[in-house]
Amino acid sequence: MTEEERTESLRKIKEEILILKESPLYIERVNNKVFPVIGEGSHQAKIMFIGEAPGKNEAATGRPFCGVSGKLLDELLSSIGVERSSVYITNIVKDRPPMNRDPSPEEIALYAPFLDRQIDIIQPSVIATLGRFSMDYIMRKFGLDESIEPISKIHGRMFSAPASYGEVRISPFFHPAVAIYDRSKFPVLQKDFQVLKEI
Ligand code: URA
Repeated sequence: MTEEERTESLRKIKEEILILKESPLYIERVNNKVFPVIGEGSHQAKIMFIGEAPGKNEAATGRPFCGVSGKLLDELLSSIGVERSSVYITNIVKDRPPMNRDPSPEEIALYAPFLDRQIDIIQPSVIATLGRFSMDYIMRKFGLDESIEPISKIHGRMFSAPASYGEVRISPFFHPAVAIYDRSKFPVLQKDFQVLKEI
């Protein structure tokens, strides 16, 4: 796919999400005057980060990982010498669940086809999942059901699976927010991020 085709296909996804009135989270946009968060970064990214769902700052700006978790993600990226603009960052669920609650299985099922299309357009070599929801969805999507274990066991490992466009590597990470409440988790995340250095 050319750069123009990728940009056009991603723009189409954005347009569809903007009018996704069947989402139970659409009303949150209207009530709170907030935005869906589609994703941002390089359309040619080798690494795609997938979080859970937008938080308060993200919904207010329409940008993924731009609040406290985003600051931690930025620190992690710079610790491995990777520019944020060279990766692509998105979430499974594109609208903020009220009170930052966990996304429901129905919400994940509703938004996941958009994520699937983003993956097929960007064709990353590595998918880095942030947190257990995206780990679970992505590992199942790529047929790694049998390798799924609690995130506390498999964080920082690298799995391989066939994608529609070739081989993809999947690396589950803790969600950066774990280090907000427990700063001792930050070095664990830093160590795990080292696996991305090989890419
Ligand atoms: N947490 C997420 O999972 N995604 C964001 O975009 C921000 C915080």
